[in-house]
Amino acid sequence: MKKVVNSLVSLSGKTTKAFLISTAFASFAFAGATLDGNKNFSKLKNFKPNPKVTSQQCLSCHKAQDPGIAKDWAHSKHAQKGVGCVECHVVPKDYPTAFKAHPFKGANWTVQAAVSSVTCAKCHSKEVEEFLNSGHSRGGAQWLKENENPHGKAMTKLAFGYEGMKGGEGIEKEFTVNKGNSQVDVTVANTCVQCHGTTIKLDSMGKPLATTWPNDGIASLYPDGGVGNCLSCHSRHKFSAEEARQPASCSNCHLGPDHPDKEVFESSVHGHIFDTNEKDYDFSTGKQIPGKTLRGPTCFTCHMGSINGLNSTHNVSVRLKWNLWAPKSFERNGKNETAGWAWWNNMKVLRGNPKAGNIQGADAARSEMKQVCSSCHDAAFTKNYFSRVDADVKLYNQYRDMATKMYKELKDKGLIKKDVWSDPFFKLMYYAWHHDGRRMRHGAAMGSPDFAHWHGVFQVMQDIREMKDIYDYRMRMLKKLKDPKKVLETEPPMPVVTHE
Ligand code: HEC
Ligand code: HEC
Ligand code: HEC
Ligand code: HEC
Ligand code: HEC
Ligand code: HEC
Ligand code: HEC
Ligand code: HEC
Repeated sequence: MKKVVNSLVSLSGKTTKAFLISTAFASFAFAGATLDGNKNFSKLKNFKPNPKVTSQQCLSCHKAQDPGIAKDWAHSKHAQKGVGCVECHVVPKDYPTAFKAHPFKGANWTVQAAVSSVTCAKCHSKEVEEFLNSGHSRGGAQWLKENENPHGKAMTKLAFGYEGMKGGEGIEKEFTVNKGNSQVDVTVANTCVQCHGTTIKLDSMGKPLATTWPNDGIASLYPDGGVGNCLSCHSRHKFSAEEARQPASCSNCHLGPDHPDKEVFESSVHGHIFDTNEKDYDFSTGKQIPGKTLRGPTCFTCHMGSINGLNSTHNVSVRLKWNLWAPKSFERNGKNETAGWAWWNNMKVLRGNPKAGNIQGADAARSEMKQVCSSCHDAAFTKNYFSRVDADVKLYNQYRDMATKMYKELKDKGLIKKDVWSDPFFKLMYYAWHHDGRRMRHGAAMGSPDFAHWHGVFQVMQDIREMKDIYDYRMRMLKKLKDPKKVLETEPPMPVVTHE
């Protein structure tokens, strides 16, 4: 318990050394990672289904059964180019995701219901490799309960324990209603994993289980070694690039109190231009030509797009200098993500590399991002802008250090409650990082004054002062009462600001 809580609040302090070690080791282990490291990939690539099996046969049942799927596919580039149901769903009979009970099958083949990126990689190896190198690919791996490291455990506790899903140690009785309920994973399947991804599990006939499927999270882990949901941005069965280029395709995950990128974008000047001049944007092409296909950038322009000489990429981390989601921001040290590659290669999946970014380092990442801006803005404008972003990140880090110092002292003296989520100091510290502090940093980095200030630093400022009040009170009372338990028991309700 103690370990779990510590790791949840001190990711940037205590764990940094572990990050560095695992990063160095992992990049060595995966330096030459290729898609062929997964034997299922070669198996699928070399598999030739019986040429008499056609997508028209599939449609003979599925057109009536699933008219929406049939139409979406009919309207896709895939249909135009002759990529049909068979190319994605027909697999060898002994393939890890084979749905053995499907009514239509042959001697050496059947249908898969769980189609992973191993299938896509047959024809789109570039996109799959870039995705595996990106921070997106650790979305499902880094915190699942299979992941036996302190950070994974802390996140799992949050999902499975504290939210009343399964109950657990250190949690008040009234929040353990589901303890011992074997169906409880189904409830968890509605929460974190729908954005992050999960480990897809099948029954003995190859039919996916309700606890894990359907799931559109960004980095689900499939039985055949596939990682990622290409569906997250290219919804099935249209699989459209035009759809994925629009900010709405990021917005079902990148929103809300803890990473409001949708809202940040909408309240930036770029969002204002987009909302008022939609006809100035042409999403049917990836070519980002100012004045022709766009007037201002959208999410994919800055994070993935080919603009001003930059290549289009499925690695959303290459243009990032800082790590803004961390409790204390640090510079990304280059190197690629490793968690997705580990799963792909059938190796033990650890937390991955939170420092993944541009393999040439943080400055190269920043130069690439500036190269995006300089297709529309002048050099001095861009330089000044980013000097303010960096100052803001450093200011946040300073607040974080103050909070960590107080927390450590309280903890050492037994002045943090066992059920941390009923401890106002712990809650404030969490909000100051996870909600208010992220909003402050994302707001500053992407040009939203409202999020940088009112939803951001203004709230962080209040959090810190309230934490200080609680800290002072507990230290004072400890002197008087001598017993930390008594201090906590007699503590009056403490103010906690709203974190909308
Ligand atoms: C004879 C009718 C028939 C034909 C032909 C047929 N299917 Fe099916 N398919 C079904 C039925 C019925 C189910 C539901 C089976 C079940 O749930 O046990 C199903 C289930 C599926 C599923 C899983 C859907 C889910 O939500 O569980 C996929 C994927 C699928 N079929 C794809 C195909 C493909 C690809 C082809 C062509 C190679 C094909 N089917 C041909 C009748 C058919
Ligand atoms: C480009 C690859 C691709 C093609 C082509 C394709 N599918 Fe799929 N299909 C997928 C993926 C990916 C999934 C989702 C798998 C998952 O969530 O694990 C899926 C899921 C499904 C499902 C279950 C999902 C649901 O909403 O019920 C059915 C049924 C299905 N496909 C039928 C078909 C049929 C019929 C065709 C031909 C008209 C077809 N697919 C063509 C990739 C494809
Ligand atoms: C058998 C080969 C094959 C497989 C398997 C395949 N694709 Fe494709 N895909 C194609 C071809 C061919 C095109 C059209 C390319 C073009 O027009 O330049 C395409 C185009 C695309 C596009 C761009 C569509 C657009 O609007 O321009 C996306 C996105 C895509 N595929 C995603 C996927 C995903 C996701 C999977 C796995 C679920 C997948 N594909 C599986 C062959 C394949
Ligand atoms: C609405 C979608 C969504 C839900 C639900 C969600 N997350 Fe996230 N999470 C995200 C996004 C988006 C990011 C990336 C934020 C960034 O890059 O600044 C993220 C980042 C994280 C990170 C930091 C990244 C890392 O590699 O460590 C952790 C840990 C995390 N989430 C855990 C959880 C847990 C645990 C839950 C459930 C209790 C959860 N998330 C629920 C979307 C979501
Ligand atoms: C299905 C949910 C989902 C969608 C859709 C999605 N993301 Fe993410 N994104 C996540 C999650 C979850 C993370 C955190 C992964 C982690 O660090 O574990 C994340 C992380 C990121 C990061 C930070 C990566 C890093 O290295 O820390 C960037 C940048 C990003 N996403 C951009 C985008 C963009 C741009 C789009 C749309 C084109 C998009 N995302 C669509 C869920 C999503
Ligand atoms: C974070 C959102 C996101 C995810 C996840 C994603 N894509 Fe894409 N994809 C895009 C965007 C945006 C584009 C358009 C890029 C451009 O035009 O520069 C695109 C374009 C494509 C294209 C067309 C490329 C071309 O040159 O025309 C293919 C093929 C493709 N994606 C396949 C995949 C595959 C396979 C996966 C899973 C590994 C995947 N995508 C996952 C956002 C995403
Ligand atoms: C004008 C360009 C631009 C646009 C448009 C934009 N971003 Fe960003 N984004 C940035 C910059 C710059 C950073 C900070 C980069 C750094 O660390 O130096 C950033 C950071 C992020 C992060 C934080 C990653 C981390 O380290 O935790 C996420 C997530 C993200 N953006 C997602 C999105 C999404 C989703 C959209 C659209 C709704 C979007 N961005 C629109 C430029 C942009
Ligand atoms: C495709 C063109 C385009 C790209 C790329 C672009 N912008 Fe902009 N940006 C605009 C336009 C147009 C405006 C509105 C006109 C203006 O105010 O200059 C604007 C406005 C702004 C503003 C608000 C105006 C002000 O004076 O404060 C900021 C800040 C800004 N952009 C920063 C950036 C940054 C940082 C990047 C790169 C990460 C970037 N922009 C990339 C077109 C672009």
